[in-house]
Amino acid sequence: MTQTLTKPLDQAARDVLLGNDRGGYTIPTARLYPFQWNWDSMFSAWGYATFDIPRAWAEVELLFASQWPSGMVPHMVFHEVDPEYFPGPDVWGAHQSPPTSGISQPPVAATLIRKIYEVDPEAGLPHVKALYPKLVAWHAWWLRERCFDGPVAITHPWESGRDNCPDWDIGMAGVPVDDSDPFIVKSRANSRRDLGLLNADQRPVASDYDRYLSILAFGRSVNWDDREMIENGPFLMADPGITFVLMRAYADLIELGNILGADTAELKAQEARLREGAGKLWNADHGWFDAYDIRSGEFANVLGSGAFLAYLAGVSRPAQDAHFARAWDKVAYGIPSADPDSERFEPRRYWRGPTWPVVNSLIAMGLKDMGRLQAEERLRDETARLIEAGGFWEYYDPIDGTPCGGPSFGWTAAVWLTWCGQGRTPLAADKER
Ligand code: GLC
Repeated sequence: MTQTLTKPLDQAARDVLLGNDRGGYTIPTARLYPFQWNWDSMFSAWGYATFDIPRAWAEVELLFASQWPSGMVPHMVFHEVDPEYFPGPDVWGAHQSPPTSGISQPPVAATLIRKIYEVDPEAGLPHVKALYPKLVAWHAWWLRERCFDGPVAITHPWESGRDNCPDWDIGMAGVPVDDSDPFIVKSRANSRRDLGLLNADQRPVASDYDRYLSILAFGRSVNWDDREMIENGPFLMADPGITFVLMRAYADLIELGNILGADTAELKAQEARLREGAGKLWNADHGWFDAYDIRSGEFANVLGSGAFLAYLAGVSRPAQDAHFARAWDKVAYGIPSADPDSERFEPRRYWRGPTWPVVNSLIAMGLKDMGRLQAEERLRDETARLIEAGGFWEYYDPIDGTPCGGPSFGWTAAVWLTWCGQGRTPLAADKER
């Protein structure tokens, strides 16, 4: 019998996932994010699939156990009580058990479930069978409740997964803030854990935070009713990122349906509707896919990683390709989350400039499937070098590679195991805090 030799950094990546495992779900990083987050969890599952397939399926199934009757799969599940965490279940006020948030997050599930299935189809088949109707219901929810204008609309910046990116600035400017809201008062009195744990210059600014909480106050007041959120909520913008993630996810869901011998005609019709609707995101003045405010029709006029997720959906247009090359060439490591030529670019502030390995992995998936192999290889190499030099952090400065955000981050470890660490043999550097 031959023994499988584990490369040191691979082992370190596994240790991150196992260290963040709270028994059936994997937290993104200790202290800062102590619950189950939707797309983080899907990436963790994909990471587990490289060494423990049953654990991968358990992660996915636990997430889907919190699916709402509407079909929505929430962006956070509060499996444990943590009175220190803010904003917790009381701020969300969603009546679920276990408590959840009231919005969703990028639907990478069908795409990653397909990848996990492909690692071991025989073991995966019963899981795919059980999950398929849930995925169909979730996708139908997106189409029904979020795609009324064509592309996917989001009701809160946190729904996009790219919380404070410049895409949302125009929508956020219109969110009224009630200074007497008790949770806003509490947050101003310093209950933001992120600021206690990380440099303030890497986090969303205070005025953004007030507005995030104002949208939560509205959601709570209407019991997270989707129609209310859409018709009367304080924030409603079209998101290129989720639109392309969902478009890709439809293709993978249809493939899963084919594997099960299901009738996929309705899914194909939904996918076609979304593909057509996504055309509305095209900002011809700039030559890129752009977020827009649904109510005013105004474009955000910013280029960011949401637009670059077009590749994941197999979509590319020459004008945007040129911007992609320009933005990427401006930095040294990975795809910047915001345009380096914009005055709003901040290389260390969360989604306003830094590069995120997890987004790089999705863009790379698209580049590879489109046959753009050189670009895929470059992105893989740049992302791997960030991790080799700094460890598994939440995100990185794309200019000098400085690790930022939280350490021992689950999805960064997962994309090392599944993607950028493949074929490399470096040693783990002990550089995390
Ligand atoms: C932040 C990110 C979001 C992620 C979460 C947990 O809110 O913006 O995308 O899911 O942290 O890592």
